[in-house]
Amino acid sequence: LYMESTEEQWKLVADERFEFPRNRIRLKKVIGGGAFGQVFAATATGIMDGETESTVAVKMLKEHASSDDFWTLVDEMDLLKKIDKHLNVIRLLGCCVLNGPPWLIFEYALHGNLQTFLRNRRRSRDAYLNVENLEFLTHKDLASFTYQIAKGMEFLASRKFIHRDLAARNILVAEHNIIKISDFGLARNINYDYYRKTSGGREPVKWMSPEALFDRCHTTQSDVWSFGIVLWEIMTYGGTHTPVYNLMRHCWQTNPAERPTFTELVGKLDYWLTRAS
Ligand code: ADE
Repeated sequence: LYMESTEEQWKLVADERFEFPRNRIRLKKVIGGGAFGQVFAATATGIMDGETESTVAVKMLKEHASSDDFWTLVDEMDLLKKIDKHLNVIRLLGCCVLNGPPWLIFEYALHGNLQTFLRNRRRSRDAYLNVENLEFLTHKDLASFTYQIAKGMEFLASRKFIHRDLAARNILVAEHNIIKISDFGLARNINYDYYRKTSGGREPVKWMSPEALFDRCHTTQSDVWSFGIVLWEIMTYGGTHTPVYNLMRHCWQTNPAERPTFTELVGKLDYWLTRAS
């Protein structure tokens, strides 16, 4: 199905169910990116029924991506085509493979990724840090996020899709705080470098179950493990688990004298609550 042309240009065969004319897309600005890919906010003309112009997200390779990166993106595209519609799973609206590099066109999630969304809505003592004057979240909002993520994952699991990288950074928040599970296309051929942070400071290892980490055994039940970490991320407004986990261990020192005092605990928890990530 796929061919590599002689001029080192990758050529794909269009899938008429998904191919969308590239010239009906206007890229606006970069809204996300990883090591090899980048995501643009864009407008697409006539991509959705009853809408002349829609805001969409377009995922593509970065300029210096390798052929491995290329195939990872193509794999993601093929996988996404097989997933039918669910409110809590990001939807592939179309693709552009003709006359240029592959582009994946997704529905647009207004509020971006859940990790940043939560961090921007922390109740900080320094009110000025809440620059955009964003609405604070209620317990009900947080509960709703957990429920919607579980619904999206239940759906993916029912279709035998394993996410493998479930984390708040890979979950999107759309209008009306609707959750969209995203980035589950990176399913295959991932070689985690367990000991190194990725370029974005991400450490996927913290979300991985022991069997996924040590035996590369990814199952729906290892996604459940990662979901547990996501619950933690939600309850800490986008925090990572190191600070409080270290604190717990500190409290469990065998030698009582090595345990923190309550004053130390108050200081650390205050810092953690109000500003630390
Ligand atoms: N960042 C990555 N994918 C996105 C999407 N579909 N909508 C908004 N922001 C995104």
